[in-house]
Amino acid sequence: MPPLINTISQDQPYLRIYGGRQLSGHVKISGAKNSALVLMTGALLAEDTCHFHNVPALADINRMGEILQALGVKLFPSKGGLSLDSRHLTSAHAPYELVSQLRASFFAIGPLLARLGTARVPLPGGCAIGARPVELHVRGLQAMGAEVHIEHGIVQAYARKLKGAKIYLDYPSVGATETLMMAATLADGETIIENAAQEPEVVDLANFCRSMGAKIRGAGTNTITIVGVQKLHGTDYEIIPDRIETGTFLTAAAITRSEITLAPVFPDHLTPIIAKLEEMGAQIVQETPKTLRFIPAETYTSTDIETLPYPGFPTDMQSLFMALMTIAEGNSIFSETVFENRFGHVPELNRMGADIRIKGNHAVIRGVPFLSGAPVMGTDLRATAALVVAGLAAQGETQVYGLTHLDRGYEAIEAKLQQLGAKLERVNGVPQATAVL
Ligand code: EPZ
Repeated sequence: MPPLINTISQDQPYLRIYGGRQLSGHVKISGAKNSALVLMTGALLAEDTCHFHNVPALADINRMGEILQALGVKLFPSKGGLSLDSRHLTSAHAPYELVSQLRASFFAIGPLLARLGTARVPLPGGCAIGARPVELHVRGLQAMGAEVHIEHGIVQAYARKLKGAKIYLDYPSVGATETLMMAATLADGETIIENAAQEPEVVDLANFCRSMGAKIRGAGTNTITIVGVQKLHGTDYEIIPDRIETGTFLTAAAITRSEITLAPVFPDHLTPIIAKLEEMGAQIVQETPKTLRFIPAETYTSTDIETLPYPGFPTDMQSLFMALMTIAEGNSIFSETVFENRFGHVPELNRMGADIRIKGNHAVIRGVPFLSGAPVMGTDLRATAALVVAGLAAQGETQVYGLTHLDRGYEAIEAKLQQLGAKLERVNGVPQATAVL
């Protein structure tokens, strides 16, 4: 297969990064993408208006907005915020052309079914990092009494009234836990989700639903209990900071041996990330309840990484740590256990002089003294972010392509890096989302 870089057209936007410079100063962390997306679908549960604060300006947020508008939700953007009026839904059918571009929109099947008794949502399909099946979502809804048919790539679900049920998830899927938790808030009786996902975004969703009047306990543990209620009301809710964006800036500081501060952050959400950075020799100091100071090490000791469901090491940070590990002293083994195809960044890091070999879902990284700038192509959101981080440390100029991926999940990343003193610019284009909607 020809190298990805050969597929680039002249006018394709890219980030030009002049590497080898230290960063300094403070970076403001945005609201969490993976929380904002699912909370926006959760607003469908209330025959009322929900006001969200700390909403990141991302392409994915705008796309979710378009999908909700197609269902009859009225959206009112405000500075760093968004209000969703779901009083008058006009459809239970999420349009294919939009859902196919945003997997998280599949989670809307839960609230739609619970609220309207019917839902028609296209199968989200696979993506660069894996097949991304949804059978756990479907089986959970069937356990709650829904009739679910999958025809022509569309999931059609009916339930005059969902019923509480005991659901054991074969895998602690974040999306399945979120879909079923939302569906259960308006079901008849009690639902228990066992082997549930424990991610901070699942807890944020539970807190949001509770602020609408839902009865949920146990979110953040592997057993969540939901007692259905008749109706939910509107609310005013602040979204948690993005722990993966925080981790991205921590690795950017580490790889450029820079001291920076980051806020707002919830340090508890970052335990595996901070632990691994400290294991490598860095220091992370909590300066205030929501502010961290990163202090680099002169040299980093390599360490092994195995991705796992929370509170294990997050798969969304695997590529970022791999970029950092390329210049650490010694060898390390990375095991990607959550997604079956999440090493798209490896050949591109090797193009920059890294020494990484893949064997199945394991990658062996031999530390090298330095990286060299090169034209590289991102294959998915976190792979592209890893190439940006590598480019910040590399000698010379790096051109990072695949910015559509980056804009999906990072709010104003180049402006934030420039503010920290990085020398980079976007060529042939502008960020896909500079504001919410
Ligand atoms: C969420 O995806 C995040 N996305 C992902 O972040 C994150 O990587 C993932 O959780 C794991 O932490 C959002 O929240 C929008 P899963 P989700 O269901 O819910 C398998 C990023 O970079 N599975 O926990 O889709 C699945 O194939 C993105 O921001 C089934 O087999 O993840 C995968 O291998 C990428 N059957 C594993 O479980 C199912 O029915 C974990 O998937 C559902 C999932």
